[in-house]
Amino acid sequence: MKDWWKESAIDIPKIIKAPPGPESNRMHTSTQRYMRGLSSQVQLFPVCFKEGHGITLTDVDGNRYLDFSSGIYVTSLGHSHPKVSEAVAHWAKTLMNCHDFTHPVKEKLLVKMAEILPGKLNSVQFYSDGTSAVEAGLRAARAINGKHEFISCYRDFHGKSMGAVSCAQMARGDVFIYGPTRAPGFYMVPRPDPYRPHFKKADGTIDTDRYMDFYAEFIKEGTAGNVTAFVLEPAQGWAGSIFPPDDFFPKLKKFCEKNNILLFADEVLAGMGRTGEWLCMNHWNVIPDIVTFGKSFGNGFPVTALVVKEEYAAALDKISASSSYGGNPMACAAALASIEVIEEENLLENVRVVGKAMMQRMQKMQAEHPIIGHVKGKGFLLGIELVKDKTTKEPFPEAGKLVYQKAFRKGLAWIPAGHILRMSPPLIMDEHFAMMGLDLIEEAITEVEKQFDY
Ligand SMILES: Cc1ncc(COP(=O)(O)O)c(C=O)c1O
Repeated sequence: MKDWWKESAIDIPKIIKAPPGPESNRMHTSTQRYMRGLSSQVQLFPVCFKEGHGITLTDVDGNRYLDFSSGIYVTSLGHSHPKVSEAVAHWAKTLMNCHDFTHPVKEKLLVKMAEILPGKLNSVQFYSDGTSAVEAGLRAARAINGKHEFISCYRDFHGKSMGAVSCAQMARGDVFIYGPTRAPGFYMVPRPDPYRPHFKKADGTIDTDRYMDFYAEFIKEGTAGNVTAFVLEPAQGWAGSIFPPDDFFPKLKKFCEKNNILLFADEVLAGMGRTGEWLCMNHWNVIPDIVTFGKSFGNGFPVTALVVKEEYAAALDKISASSSYGGNPMACAAALASIEVIEEENLLENVRVVGKAMMQRMQKMQAEHPIIGHVKGKGFLLGIELVKDKTTKEPFPEAGKLVYQKAFRKGLAWIPAGHILRMSPPLIMDEHFAMMGLDLIEEAITEVEKQFDY
């Protein structure tokens, strides 16, 4: 099964009509008449896709792309993995929905999850999108300790419902992305970005102790002293694949324990193998109290999960955590098959090995290119930060947009984020194709550097 996708990837990338081609343009214009609110990924490159297989995406003009995005961190085992697709198809024909009654595949999935997750992270409820899982997690936190305030971090992203947006940035420039106000009782604090730290030691390295001191002061001075949970992404996806220094989460866990605050790790983007671990938090041996999974969890089938420690299971009863579609047989089949594929194809190891090779290549690119300020990431959650000047570190979003578009035109489907270019290849990707993707990115960077006279 391991090489099921290789034949379809033989001749990628293959551009036969300069993209976005005529049929993409026609289809995009036609849908725009009825549909708005598109992501920057689409607005900056409005191509329309008709097929995906493994690491290959085909657009409606017949162009074939190397996928460095997995949709948007979603189709992590490659598009249309046969085992996942067959599992969904079987249950689509057998039993699509039975509310939250138990069924055979749900039983198997719950046992499997308890097996792969650390500690006693084994009390679960299922949803159909990451936002709903996060929202339920916020309610569960309040039910666990009876407190009501939340602390989240600058530039984290947790979804687009009222609770979830209140854990994130409200505006960019003068644009209210999610609405002009945050719900009461939600606060934001800085977290360490190794390239742009708020708190530094005399030698210039990050001072994680000062972050903890600041949190203590902030809780005392800026909240009602009723903080239920710290809500964080283990690694910031939308902010540009930013990982904290290795001592941050162990210190934060201790801080939370000392202050009777729950640690809520939103693993919707970073979890389920993307960084070479089931849980991104495993990199730091920290077991959170509350976890959310999504995106990779069902390899494209909408299935997400809220998981709390066994000792907090009653909170899921208290908040009446179930939903109409959560944990339906197709969804559970997709999630179970996805976990089994990761095990059977040894994909955690693949992500670690190929991710390391990618990082080495990116570090070489950083040394050779004047506009690459920083490269970052773990496994297949990677980013390249573009700056106007390596000394001032001034962000270079104009270059970010052009590099994204140029590489896409060459046949690389991937993800923009202002001045940070984001990569999220399917976990099945081997080193040959990983380097091919980085070649396309490097070509695009070189062209943009010339354009801006570097
Ligand atoms: C960390 C994180 N949490 C939650 C969400 C929301 O997930 P969804 O878009 O499935 O609602 C996202 C989506 O990008 C995310 O990255």
